[in-house]
Amino acid sequence: MRVRTSPSLALVKYWGKKAGGRNLPATTSLAVTLAGLDTRTLVRVAAPGEGDAVQVGGELQDAARYAPFFDEARRLFHSPLHFAASSENSFPSAAGLASSSSGFAALALGCAALSGLAEGPRANALASDLARLGSASAARAVYGGFTLLPAGARRAEPLEGPAYWPDFRVVVALATREKKRDSSRGAMELTRTSSPYYAPWVRDARKVSREALAAFRDRDAQKLGELMRLSYLRMHASALAAEPPVLYWLPDSVALIKACAALRARGIGAWETMDAGPQVKVFCLAPELAAVEAALREAAPGCELIVTQPGPGPDLSAEAGPR
Ligand code: PMV
Repeated sequence: MRVRTSPSLALVKYWGKKAGGRNLPATTSLAVTLAGLDTRTLVRVAAPGEGDAVQVGGELQDAARYAPFFDEARRLFHSPLHFAASSENSFPSAAGLASSSSGFAALALGCAALSGLAEGPRANALASDLARLGSASAARAVYGGFTLLPAGARRAEPLEGPAYWPDFRVVVALATREKKRDSSRGAMELTRTSSPYYAPWVRDARKVSREALAAFRDRDAQKLGELMRLSYLRMHASALAAEPPVLYWLPDSVALIKACAALRARGIGAWETMDAGPQVKVFCLAPELAAVEAALREAAPGCELIVTQPGPGPDLSAEAGPR
C-alpha cells in the first residue's frame, strides 16, 4: 500500500499533553495541510516472524518509539498483522516542518487499508485516532485543507477543504536544514513539568483557539493572523521558561519575524508562526505574496523559501509511494 500525505501546519498550536499517557493534546489546534511538501510511504504486511519495522529516509527507526503505535493499530483494526514501512520526505525531516505529522498519518492510513478498512469517513476517523498516538499533529494530517484537533480529543475534525480559502498562502522560510536537537515530544513534556508559564499557556490557549476559529469561519485574515502570532509566541514563551529552557530560534528566525513586523507596518498582511524548530512559516494572501517573498529574501538571504497553500487530503494509490 502506497500513501502520500502532507504535513499539518498549526495556525494555532498544540503544545503539551493531558495526563494519562494517551497523547491527548492539552490545547486545541487549528491547522492547514500544506500542498507540495510530500511524505511518500510504502506500507506492507510484514512476513511471518518479522516484527514491525519503520525506515525513514533509509534509516531504520527506534522500534520502541513505534511499538505503542503498532499495538494500537492491531487493537483498533482488530487485526493480527505486523507492518513494515519505508518513508521518504520531499522536505527536510525532523527540522520543525512537521514531518512527524505527515509520517504518522501515512503510516496510520496504510495500516488501516492493509487491515481491510475501506477508504472513507470511518477509516479516516480511526486512522486519525491511531496517528495521534504517534504524534498528536498527525491526527490532523489524515485530512487535507483545514482541520481542528480539540483539546483532549482523540481525533481531528476536517473543517474545510483547500478550496474554502483560495488565496491562502504560506511561505516556509528554512532557517536551517539541520535536524533539531529538542524533539517536540521531550520539549513539551519539559515545559509541562518545569515551566511556571505552562498552566497559564493552556488556560489562555482556550480563548485564542476559540477566537481563531471564529476568525477562520469569517475568513478574516487580519484577525486570524494576529491570533496565530499570539498562539506561537505564547507557546514559545512557555517553553523558554522551562528548566532547562527550550529555545528553537536562530538569528535568521528573528530576522524573519522582524521582516513580517515591517511588512505589517507597511500595510501588507504577513503573519508568522513557528513550531519546534527554527523555521518561520508566514501566512499571507495571494495578492501580497510577491511583496512578502521579496521582504523575507532580503531579511534572510541564506534561507530557502518554499511557497505553499492548503493541500488536498492524502492519496492512497499505486503511484503515491516512494519512487
Ligand atoms: O505532533 P508533535 O508531537 O510533533 O507536536 C507538534 C507541536 C507543534 O508543531 C509545535 C504544534 C502543532 O500543533 O503542530
